Amino acid sequence: MVISLYCFSGSGHSRAIADYLAKQLEITVEPLPDEEMEERSEVALVVFPVYSQNLPDPVKIRLPKIKAQRFILIATYGRMSFGNVLQEAASLIQGRVIAAAYVPTGHTYLSEGNLFEVEQLRPLLEKIGSDQAITLKPFPKNIFANFFPNIRSRLGVKIERSEQCNECGLCTLNCPMKTMNNGRIGHHCIRCLRCVNSCPQQALTFRLSPFLKGYLKKPKEERFLLFLN
Ligand SMILES: Cc1cc2nc3c(=O)[nH]c(=O)nc-3n(C[C@H](O)[C@H](O)[C@H](O)COP(=O)(O)O)c2cc1C
Repeated sequence: MVISLYCFSGSGHSRAIADYLAKQLEITVEPLPDEEMEERSEVALVVFPVYSQNLPDPVKIRLPKIKAQRFILIATYGRMSFGNVLQEAASLIQGRVIAAAYVPTGHTYLSEGNLFEVEQLRPLLEKIGSDQAITLKPFPKNIFANFFPNIRSRLGVKIERSEQCNECGLCTLNCPMKTMNNGRIGHHCIRCLRCVNSCPQQALTFRLSPFLKGYLKKPKEERFLLFLN
C-alpha cells in the first residue's frame, strides 16, 4: 500500500505527532506539497495545527494539492478551541476521509512542551486499511473566528530581531509564507513562529499583547477526539 505522511508545523507539536506516525509506519514526513501532485497515494495522513480556530493558510493552500484516495486528518490545537477545522479540511480534499482526530497539545505562544501521549493515536493507524468514509461531526465556531484571523495574530504577537542575527537565511528558508527575509518579517506573516524556532542564533524572539496574554490564561479545554468508523 502506498502511504504518504504530510505535516505542517510551526512550533513542533504537529511535527512530534508526524514523527511518531512516521516511525510506526516506517515512512518519512513530507512537507505539504507546493505544486499539484502527479502520483496518487492510496492513503495520505496529514497533520496540522489549528490557528485562530481556522486552518493555517499554508494548509488551506496546499491541502487541495495532495492526491490520495483516502485521507487521515489530524488537527493539533493549543487547548483553547479547535473551531471546525476537520470538516473544513475535509471539504478541501479530493478523496474519502477514513479517520480523523483533534489532539490537544501545548500552545505555541505558551512555549509548552508536548503534553500529549502519542500512543493514543494508535487506533488511527489501525484504520489505514479501511475503505469506509467517516462522518465528521460539525462543531460551532466562535462568531468572530473568521474575522481576519491572520490580522488578529499579527496584532497579538510581535516578532523581534536582535543584533545576534547574522543573516544566515535559515528563517527565510523555513518561512511557510515565503514572507521572511533574513529576520525581517514581511506582510504575510502568520505568526507560526517557525522562524523563531529555527534560528540557530536565537536572534528572533516574540512578545504577546496584553490582550492575548489574558486570553491564554483562560481555562484550557482538553478534549482528545478520535473519529473512526
Ligand atoms: C497563529 C496561531 C493561532 C492559534 N490559534 C489557536 C486556536 O484558535 N485554538 C487553539 O486551541 N490553539 C491555537 N493555537 C495553538 C496551536 O494550535 C497549537 O499549539 C498547535 O499544537 C501548534 O502546532 P505546531 O507546533 O505544529 O505549529 C494557535 C497557534 C498559533 C501560532
